[in-house]
Amino acid sequence: MAGQSSMFLHGPYEPLCIERAEGPWLFTSDGRRILDAGGGAVVVNVGQGREELAQLAADQVARLNYIVPVWTSAARNRLVERLARWTPPGLNRFFFTSGGSEAVEAALKFALMYHKVKGQPQRHKIISRWFSYHGNTLAALSVGGNLGRRADYEHVLLRWPHIGPPFCYRCPWDRTYPGCSLDCATTLEDTIIQHGPESIAAFIAEPMMGATGGAVPPVREYWPRIAEICRRYGILLIVDEVMTGFGRTGERFAVDHWKITPDLLIGGKGLTGGYVPMGMVAVAEGLVQECEKAGADFMFYTYSAHPLACAMADKVLEIMEREHLVEYVAQMGTQLGAQLKEQLSGHPMVGDIRGTGFFWGVEIVRDKAARTPYPPQLRVTNRIVGAALKNGLFVYPTSGMAGAAGGDGVMITPPFVIGPAEIDYIVGSLRAALDDVLAAL
Ligand SMILES: Cc1ncc(COP(=O)(O)O)c(C=O)c1O
Repeated sequence: MAGQSSMFLHGPYEPLCIERAEGPWLFTSDGRRILDAGGGAVVVNVGQGREELAQLAADQVARLNYIVPVWTSAARNRLVERLARWTPPGLNRFFFTSGGSEAVEAALKFALMYHKVKGQPQRHKIISRWFSYHGNTLAALSVGGNLGRRADYEHVLLRWPHIGPPFCYRCPWDRTYPGCSLDCATTLEDTIIQHGPESIAAFIAEPMMGATGGAVPPVREYWPRIAEICRRYGILLIVDEVMTGFGRTGERFAVDHWKITPDLLIGGKGLTGGYVPMGMVAVAEGLVQECEKAGADFMFYTYSAHPLACAMADKVLEIMEREHLVEYVAQMGTQLGAQLKEQLSGHPMVGDIRGTGFFWGVEIVRDKAARTPYPPQLRVTNRIVGAALKNGLFVYPTSGMAGAAGGDGVMITPPFVIGPAEIDYIVGSLRAALDDVLAAL
């Protein structure tokens, strides 16, 4: 296909040229219609093709298309005012980027800088979790815990500690909740003590395991316990809500499920719903004030707080408020989850279905009782995504949750504008795709 051969790398699925999109639907140049139940890369929330956003973009570009990020604009002023109402209490200082990886980099650097200005430069390690993804740059990969994505760079990544995730289906400690003693949380304290609390700057994690794990909410005691441990040892808590933020899980942010207030919260993807690229870090006011008092400087990116991105993000959030989309996701997510479980859990390939809101994962196994994954070389995730596309459905791939043994799955993370008819379509088409793949294996 023209254009594909000029790309640096190719995707694993059939090369599609998408000509236009409307709501949750994609239309290809060869006349096919695909329901985007991945929301792209878990990005699209208010749906595609909104005239109001197209008009705003045209107006904004005509009025002001670039300023140095140290200045502000009406669009940015509106956005930060709105964001301060969205983020957990006290997180009202913002830094904007072009995407999630840059925002993770900024958050990690801020944590290191904060301890330095507080006279503790020896706090230079960041603890993170295995089976996680925080982005594609070297520091983001260093805190990331996807073995496959780290593999080619392992020799240059920063040697920071990783701990096991709260993942009951494949518990790293082989325990069963609630009979366990929450090893997934206490391991954080053990690791802090092992390395010496005075050497640890921050702990970073996704509030629910995302694309390396397949939409896994933790048990409800996990985050309160983690927050308490971080506080006790003076370690900054950074939550990466690039995937889970802005309504995706049925709350504005996933941390709202447990009423946790982190020190830093990272966002991206749903912030602009895919209309333009943007990421952000929200930081507790007090931490920024400490750095300002010390005269510390934090370098911007050229496209930080780009006026168009600010205007679009503000409007996307306004639409979500006006149309009560977060509440809608909470309500319809229950139906989506129930139908997935009803119609797919009996399928011979389906090991586990978990999630909340419009953030669901279906883990695929070869042996349901033993929870054995398929050998990675069979590329079962790619086969399922490919088969679903043939049935007019896109689901987001997720893999690696079984560690060295591989692990396959798909995520159902649709735009927030689907209704009961689209839910029927998603579940029916996914079931047909699983049948097709099973028959061919
Ligand atoms: C939790 C999380 N953090 C960070 C990133 C990186 O964001 P981006 O791809 O916009 O750089 C992703 C991307 O999938 C993500 O899921």
